[in-house]
Amino acid sequence: MSDAVFDRVALDYDREFTATPLARMLRAQVWARLAAHFGSGDHVLELNCGTGEDAIWLAQRGVRVMATDASTAMLNVTERKSRECSVSELIETSVLDLASPPDPLSRNQKGDFGRGGGRYDGALSNFGGLNCVHELHPLAALLADTIKPHGQLILVPMNRWCAWEIVWHLLHLQSRTAFRRLRRDGVEANVGRDTVHVWYPSIKTLRQVFAPHFQLRRVIGLGVCLPPSYLEPVIAKRPKLFRWLKRMDDALCGVFPFNRLADHLVLEFERVA
Ligand SMILES: C[S@@+](CC[C@H](N)C(=O)[O-])C[C@H]1O[C@@H](n2cnc3c(N)ncnc32)[C@H](O)[C@@H]1O
Repeated sequence: MSDAVFDRVALDYDREFTATPLARMLRAQVWARLAAHFGSGDHVLELNCGTGEDAIWLAQRGVRVMATDASTAMLNVTERKSRECSVSELIETSVLDLASPPDPLSRNQKGDFGRGGGRYDGALSNFGGLNCVHELHPLAALLADTIKPHGQLILVPMNRWCAWEIVWHLLHLQSRTAFRRLRRDGVEANVGRDTVHVWYPSIKTLRQVFAPHFQLRRVIGLGVCLPPSYLEPVIAKRPKLFRWLKRMDDALCGVFPFNRLADHLVLEFERVA
């Protein structure tokens, strides 16, 4: 169970990922997109919120957040941090497993996500939570039911085609690893000392899963020129190279086809009326 695996890494997650220069830089790019869509008074549903970095950032800008995750240990960290940052009155937390979300047609399920009526101005899933789920149609149905017309759905999955990963592993004669993201039945990914099974859906697949209620409006690449986080040590000790790659990243993140070759994608969907 991936929630048990993420429970075990919850206390170390911020030190080992959130606080790294690469993750901070990538998250800043996501925040720029959140700032473009959400503002004070909005109510946002956050999926796979982890340790609450994005929920707290939104709440500090006056956005109310329903922060959800399958891991209760992650939610505990989110609650503690939101109290420390004095935004706990704007952040509610709840367990929500994206692999088995409540059916919006059933009113007997626990949880308040499927009560319909489009209560949220938008939803967010940052940094790969979606990749932990194979069948995304039930989640798409729930989001269609809960997001208001013209609301924004910001998804940040790990991308199927990551140029850095392919080139790096081909140069190291590891062709199987270079193309591991293309396997239809998914792969095992390391999380702490454990592994979780992950899938890498294409943009086309995600567009189809979220249609007809959501339309894809924009694709931004996160980490077009910068490496995936597990290869960060390659550039961590070369600050000049890091800065140069970051500038290249900023220039190319919205440009086709480079935006489609990044480690992560920011997919901006709109709930159509
Ligand atoms: C890489 S972390 C990203 C956390 C956070 N969004 C961030 O930006 O730092 C992935 C998160 O997805 C959550 N997750 C994994 N599988 C899930 C599932 N089936 N349902 C809900 N959350 C899940 C994990 O508990 C973890 O918090």
